Amino acid sequence: MTVSGVSWENGLVPRFISVTPDSRLLPFPWNTPLADWPVELLVALPRGLSRHVVRFIQVGESVYAAKEVVEHLARHEYQLLRDLHRHGTPAVEPVGVIAERRDKAGQPLDPILLTRHLEFSLPYRSLFTPGVRQETVSRLLDAMVVLIARLHLIGFKWGDVSLSNILFRRDAGEFAAYLVDAETGELHPHLSDGQREQDLEIARTNLFGDFLDLKAGGLLQEPLNPYWLVDTIITRYRELWQELTGVEEFKGSEAERIERRVRRLNALGFDVAEMDIKTGDTSETGNFTIRIEPKVVDAGHHQRRLMRLTGLDTEENQARRLLNDLDTYRFRTGQAHTDESVVAHKWLTEVFEPVMKQVPESLRAKREPAQVFHELLDYRWYMSEREHRDVPLTEAVQGYVHEVLSGLPDEAMSPDAVIPPVEANRLVNPYDPSQGYVDDGEEPPHDPWEDGITEVPGPTGYLDIAALRARAGQPG
Ligand SMILES: Nc1ncnc2c1ncn2[C@@H]1O[C@H](COP(=O)(O)OP(=O)(O)OP(=O)(O)O)[C@@H](O)[C@H]1O
Ligand SMILES: [Mg+2]
Repeated sequence: MTVSGVSWENGLVPRFISVTPDSRLLPFPWNTPLADWPVELLVALPRGLSRHVVRFIQVGESVYAAKEVVEHLARHEYQLLRDLHRHGTPAVEPVGVIAERRDKAGQPLDPILLTRHLEFSLPYRSLFTPGVRQETVSRLLDAMVVLIARLHLIGFKWGDVSLSNILFRRDAGEFAAYLVDAETGELHPHLSDGQREQDLEIARTNLFGDFLDLKAGGLLQEPLNPYWLVDTIITRYRELWQELTGVEEFKGSEAERIERRVRRLNALGFDVAEMDIKTGDTSETGNFTIRIEPKVVDAGHHQRRLMRLTGLDTEENQARRLLNDLDTYRFRTGQAHTDESVVAHKWLTEVFEPVMKQVPESLRAKREPAQVFHELLDYRWYMSEREHRDVPLTEAVQGYVHEVLSGLPDEAMSPDAVIPPVEANRLVNPYDPSQGYVDDGEEPPHDPWEDGITEVPGPTGYLDIAALRARAGQPG
């Protein structure tokens, strides 16, 4: 939209480019450089490092991220973020570009790109803290690898993979990574191996620097070190890419391997759009061979299924967990033969929603509902073990709220989620945390959820493709 006819202080009206126009943006002081905006308009939220001036602004109930950036980059990034959204790739959501800005003296100012603040997102600095568990780091690396692979699958060459350009959200026991900075990105119909390698090379260089910084700041402790971290990311990416796109060839008598491949891809959360299957002849034995090449569309297999059944919009692993609970409910209540969507609706209204209603309003900024549900299922399991009985969810939720949730730091954007005054006082500028602390070297924020959990040695879990293959009963 282009807004005109608005009476402006000095008659200099900027241009609003947006497909989702928001009239509440009109009164903002667009004729002032972003760095000089009055603090009443700003929200002090944690964030990563940036070259540009970036501020979080409060617009009604919402919070937007505003970035002052030259025109062609602002428009390019806006367009790319829209494309990524169309593909359903995890990235911050573009709101618009405010262009043709002029200051009070009539001098041109760079446009501002607006994106919606990603709720419950955690910049990496709030995750890498001294004593962070290796398992947690391993999961962060997996989330990054999945994000890079998903971007590559749709033909997106990022050109600037770095820790500051990724946001993390909790996803059941894992993390989900989101792209936050698309300035250098390019969207192609398909990426060649060379283009992917270039992206990996940039990732290697940037991430190595980022990890060195963390190490210098005392945030990385042995056995974690920048070399291991970067090598792990690249190795896991290559394994995942091979699993997603690699060609397999086997004997005709092993045709069930087609099905197994699809199952493995689904288990990783990816959907298969089509499987290119070719059969050939092996002249020596007379047996025919099968060659398969999956065309993987995108991650979000369980996410889409849960959304279809319940309308709940969650991360992939949260969806997996909720679907498991839905299956258990179906079985327990003797509804195995009832239509799945009917059972899903009942589960939503009889299990999920009543439990969520028991979470006090004041604590809802701490975790997304699906994450609360996931943590609650864990909590109930431990409680049942401890008390040797089957604890109902409605009872477990009270313990979870008091013992766990109330002690956790806020992660959503809420008045309590902003950088607390004590910490804000220590920052050079609370609205620009990248300027650092006045008095460095103090304890970083701590997450009680990490307390008391014993370290599981070595990388395990989600992206352990060898383990996945073993589970699917196929040699690696
Ligand atoms: N929509 C958003 N939601 C949450 N955080 C955001 C959002 N947009 C930006 N941020 C935070 O602001 C930081 C800087 O944003 P961004 O990376 O776009 O700036 P930049 O100046 O282009 O960075 P670079 O130096 O990599 O070019 C990010 O690391 C992120 O923590
Ligand atoms: Mg950036």
